[in-house]
Order: sequence, then C-alpha cells, then structure tokens
Amino acid sequence: MSEKNDFPEGFLWGVSSSAPQTESRKGRGKSNWDIFVDDAHKGEIYSNVTCTEFEERYEEDIALLAQAGVKSFRFSISWPRVQPTWNDGNLDKTGVELYSKIMDLLIKNNIEPFPTLFHWDIPDWAGDFRDRNLAYRFAEYAKKITQQLGERVRKLIIFNEPSSVSLLGYGTGTFAPGVTSAESMFAAIHHVNLAQGLAFAALRAHLPADVSIGTTLSLSRTRGEDDSAENTAAAQKAWEFFDAVFLDPLYGKGYPADLLPSLQTYIQDGDMAIINVVPDFLGVNYYSRLYVKADSNPLNFFGFLSGNIPEDLPRTQSSFVVEPEGLTELLLYLHNNYNAPVIYITETGFALDEPEAVSGVIDDDPRSQYIYEYLNAALDAIAQGVNLRGLSYWAATDNWEWTSGFTIQFGLIRVDVDSQKRTIKKSLSYYEKCISENKLIKPD
Ligand code: GCO
Repeated sequence: MSEKNDFPEGFLWGVSSSAPQTESRKGRGKSNWDIFVDDAHKGEIYSNVTCTEFEERYEEDIALLAQAGVKSFRFSISWPRVQPTWNDGNLDKTGVELYSKIMDLLIKNNIEPFPTLFHWDIPDWAGDFRDRNLAYRFAEYAKKITQQLGERVRKLIIFNEPSSVSLLGYGTGTFAPGVTSAESMFAAIHHVNLAQGLAFAALRAHLPADVSIGTTLSLSRTRGEDDSAENTAAAQKAWEFFDAVFLDPLYGKGYPADLLPSLQTYIQDGDMAIINVVPDFLGVNYYSRLYVKADSNPLNFFGFLSGNIPEDLPRTQSSFVVEPEGLTELLLYLHNNYNAPVIYITETGFALDEPEAVSGVIDDDPRSQYIYEYLNAALDAIAQGVNLRGLSYWAATDNWEWTSGFTIQFGLIRVDVDSQKRTIKKSLSYYEKCISENKLIKPD
C-alpha cells in the first residue's frame, strides 16, 4: 500500500548536465557559442570560458553519482564534437567514441543514459537557425548519432529548449549567435520547431518502437505582476511567446493565432504536419513562474516586459525564484490541456550562495529544503493524475552557466574550476535519501 509521500514505482530519479557547459574545447570542432564568446564578447565575465573537463573526468563524476544511487543521467551530446566538419555527413569516430564510453560506464553503474541530442551547440560549418537548411542538417546529425549510440538508449531527448535557442539567440540577442531581429527570431522559431519534427521522424523510422523519443521545452505558467486586465492580457501574450509557440504545434494545435502572421512566411507546405509529432514524452524544464507587465512601446515586438516578482518568494543567484506552487500549476495545466502526456522534469534546480567546505562537505541546506519543496509539488501533481515519470535535478555538478560564466552554481557537486576538485554538497546526500526510499523525505 503506497503512502502519501511515496513516489510511483520506477520513478526516474536523475540529474542533468550539458556538453557545452561542462566539456572543454579539446578534440571538438568550433561551435556557434565559441564564436559568440570569443568574437562578440571577448573579455566579458563569461568569456574566460572554463569548464569541468567532463570529457576527461566523466569517470569521477559518474562514480560520485553512482555512490548517490542516482538512477539516470541526462547529459547532452556535442554536435561540434561528433561532427567537427561536414565531412560528407560522416561523424567523427573519436567524438562518437567518447559518448559510447560514457554510456557504457553509466550502464555499468546502473545509471540510465538519458541523452539530449542538442543543447544549443551548433558546429560552425552548419550555419544558424535563420536558415531553414539547418533543420535538415540537424535531423541528419540526429539520425546518424542515434544509429551509432541508439542501442543503449531507452529514451532520448531531441532538443533542449527551442525557446532559449530562438528567442534569446535571435530576438534579444543575449545568447549565441547574438542576433536582435524580429524577423530572424520568427524564422528561428519555425526552423527549430521544424528541426525537432524532422529529427523525430528520422529517429522514429530507425529506432526500435520501445525507445521513447521526446523533447525538452522550457515551460512556466505566466502571470501579470498584478491582476489588471492589461497585465493579465500581457501574461497570455507571454505564454504564447515563451511556451505555446513551441508546445502547441508539437501537439497538433498549430501556432497561436496572434503569432501566426509573423511566422507564415517561413511555413512551407507540410511543415506543420512534420512538427505535429506528439512526442512519446514531454521533457519539462521548470524553475519558477514568469511575471510580466504590459508594454505599449510599438517597437517592443514582445508587447510585454518582465514584471515584479512577489516579494515573499525566495531569491536565488539566477533570475529564477523558488516557487514550487508554479510547478504543480504547470504540470496540471499540461495534463489537462495536452491530453495527459507522459512527462519527465528534465531540469529544475537552484543556484545559491554556499559556504566553503568544512571537513570535505559543503553545507547547502537551503538547496535541500528547496528540492524537498519541489518534490512535494511534483508529488501533489502526481496525486492529481499527472503522468510524471521522473525528475532530473539541474545540475549534477557546478558548470558554465552561459552568460553568467562560473559566477553562479546549481550543482549537487561543487567543481573548483582551477583545481578541478570535486566536493560533495549536503544536498546530494539529501537527494540520495529520497532516491533510496523513493519517497519525499523532509530534510534534517
Ligand atoms: C536552461 C538550460 C541550462 C541552464 C539551466 C540553468 O534551461 O537554460 O537548459 O543549460 O544552465 O537551466 O539556467
């Protein structure tokens, strides 16, 4: 008889990571992010890009995760590493070999490999998402890499966060390739959706039917900073921009009517059917809700600005606050509006100020408390029928947080980037207790 705090049998307790945030550049081709960091932002805080040398130290990291009883490891495959040049479409043997070794070692340690095929790093020869052809090149890479690695995979994630790639890469320009243009942004929105759809079809055609193919969206329910009619309308607009324009076409709902006119010029016959894949599972990256306020500036094609976040929500080092209620709300919304999909939370986590290690352990008790609150919110959703099958904490180790560099840290394991020393944080021991009992346990 399961008790209130039990997670479902077989719940997939995981941790998340990504190649561009942990691997060094050694042995791989140049990427869009290398160009963005080195050329466009030389000398800026994050331009002294360091890493956790994961491609050389994965044995140590996997051993620490295995000791903690972690059940799955969501990592990403670096496209610039496995295909540093076009090379007639052939993959690089050494690059593929790295991920083959990583997956074999995970399996040997009873950790399920949960690969993401694309976590924003594009090889420089492939172009960018203003170009429709990149969608086809991406699908070809996805097919090739899964043909090489697929037999060890029970489930895989095609894409990480099409919204971050398109809105931040081509709209606000804060991410690679640093373009700020409405037209480029709408082109990228459609082309990343198309890339996912083409890749899904290519994988489905050759992978065994029992391999689950999903994709990961960054999702959060949006709210006006107050309940005025204009800010409530702005919240709906924000949901359409940041969430629905990626989520709805996946599930056959097409593009939000308000955004369709800006996307129409990029849509070719058959595209929407290709994009409408209804994935085997939906990967959800949730951190906190998005608060907005209306903006009347006609030049602001978003039509809203970020709004004030309720003062009572705990802040973190990142732009996310601690808001477990928003996780339950989001999961129920997805369950009730997208035909009760199978869901894996592929990222949720907290970047926090931390003390130095004492006797080899870092006391990050607030992180354990926040993990408890988010696990409780997840259980709440499961109790209401949501098909939530697993949760991967972001992140396994401290890593390169994009334009924040190594100034903020999410990891359950600290990495000192100068010495590359790994130090366990107390939150990993807390997570280990929940995993071993498959239960929501209150932190000490
Ligand atoms: C994202 C990315 C991760 C981030 C993490 C913390 O969701 O933005 O998937 O690469 O590092 O979310 O911001």
